[in-house]
Amino acid sequence: MKALIYNGPAKKTWTDKADPAIEKPTDVIVRITHTTICGTDLHILKGDVSTIAPGRVLGHEGVGVIEQAGAAVRNFRQGDHVLISCITACGGCPNCKRQMYAHCEDGGWLLGNVIDGTQAEYVRIPHADNSLYPIPPGMDEEALVMLSDILPTGFEIGVLYGQVKPGDTVAIVGAGPVGMAALLTARFYSPARLIMIDMDANRLEVARKFGATDTVRVGEGDTVQKIKDMTGGLGVDVAIEAVGIPATFDICQRILTPGAHLANVGVHGKSVELHLEDLWIQNVCISTGLVNTNTTSMLLKTVQSGGIDPAQLITHRFPLAHIEDAYHVFGNAAQEKALKVLLSA
Ligand SMILES: NC(=O)c1ccc[n+]([C@@H]2O[C@H](COP(=O)([O-])OP(=O)(O)OC[C@H]3O[C@@H](n4cnc5c(N)ncnc54)[C@H](O)[C@@H]3O)[C@@H](O)[C@H]2O)c1
Ligand SMILES: [Zn+2]
Ligand SMILES: [Zn+2]
Repeated sequence: MKALIYNGPAKKTWTDKADPAIEKPTDVIVRITHTTICGTDLHILKGDVSTIAPGRVLGHEGVGVIEQAGAAVRNFRQGDHVLISCITACGGCPNCKRQMYAHCEDGGWLLGNVIDGTQAEYVRIPHADNSLYPIPPGMDEEALVMLSDILPTGFEIGVLYGQVKPGDTVAIVGAGPVGMAALLTARFYSPARLIMIDMDANRLEVARKFGATDTVRVGEGDTVQKIKDMTGGLGVDVAIEAVGIPATFDICQRILTPGAHLANVGVHGKSVELHLEDLWIQNVCISTGLVNTNTTSMLLKTVQSGGIDPAQLITHRFPLAHIEDAYHVFGNAAQEKALKVLLSA
C-alpha cells in the first residue's frame, strides 16, 4: 500500500509500505476512504512529540470500510462503514472502566504515534469493538472525519473541562479546527460571549460565522488588555488554550476572572511559565488532558440531528495520494485560508 511515513522532524514521504495485517483476534483492518491532518501532526513534524519514531505512518483521524475482521471481533464485519476514534480503548482495564480511554492500559493515543496511523490506504485498528463506531446509513461520511478527534477534543478537553455554563464569557485562544470545535460545542451551553483569539484574520472571520461574538487578532496591540477591556476589566469565566505554545498559555492565565477555568487543550512541546504568584488567590482551576473520546456517540447524535454541522470545517479536498500538498496547505493555513483538509481515497 501507499502511506505517509514520518522520517524525523520536518521529514515525511508518501511511499510504499507493507500492508497491515491482523496481529490479534481483536484487530480489524480498515480501508481508509477519508482522512485528514491534525494540528498534532504539525507538532509531531516540529519534533514536539517524543513518543513517535521514524518509519511510523502518521494520522489518527478517518473513516473507512472494514476489509478484514479478527476472529474475536463481535461488533463489526467485513464491508461495514466505520468511524475511527483517535483513541484506542480495550474497554476492560481500570481506566477504560472509568471512561478514561486516553489512558487505556493497552490503548490510548496509539494511531500515528506508537503504531501506524490513518494517513494510508489501510490501517490496523486494535481493540476494534471499542475503538470504532458504526456509521449510520445515509450520514455524510466526510463530515464524520471531524468526529475522530477534533470535535470530542474541543468538547471534552475544552468545553466540559472548562465547565462552560449559560451566560459565561468564554475565550478560545487558537481558531484552528480544535478551537473551532470548542466554539461549536460551547454553544450547546448558551454562553453569553464567545471571544476567539488568533493571529489568522481569515480564521477569525470564519469564527464569527460559526458564532463568535468577538474576535481579537494577536499581533495588533496588547491582546490581554483588549480582552480585559471587552469584559469591563473582569476577565473571562473560561479560557480555552487551543494552540500549544507558551505565549498562548500565557494569554489564558492573564485573562481569568476569579473562579474561572483555564482548560488547556494544546499539545505542548516546551514548558510554560505558570504565574502561581498571581493565580493562587484567584480561585481558578487549570485542567489539561488528552481526549478520551467518551463523548463520540453523543456527538454523533448531535450531528445526525443537525445540531452541529462539522462539514463546515472542511475547506480543502485532495485525493489521498496528494497528501503532501495537503500538508503544505494545512501548514500554511493563513495564506491558504485553510481549516480542515479532507483527503479521500
Ligand atoms: N488534548 C488533546 O487531546 C488534543 C487533541 C487534538 C489536538 N490537540 C492540539 O490542539 C491544538 C490545536 O489543534 P488544531 O488542529 O486546531 O491546530 P492548528 O495548527 O490548525 O491551529 C492552531 C491555531 O493557533 C494559531 N496560533 C499560532 N500561534 C499563535 C499565537 N501566538 N497566538 C494566537 N494564535 C496562534 C494558529 O494561527 C492556528 O489557527 C494543537 O496543539 C493540537 O496538537 C490536542
Ligand atoms: Zn489530533
Ligand atoms: Zn483499556
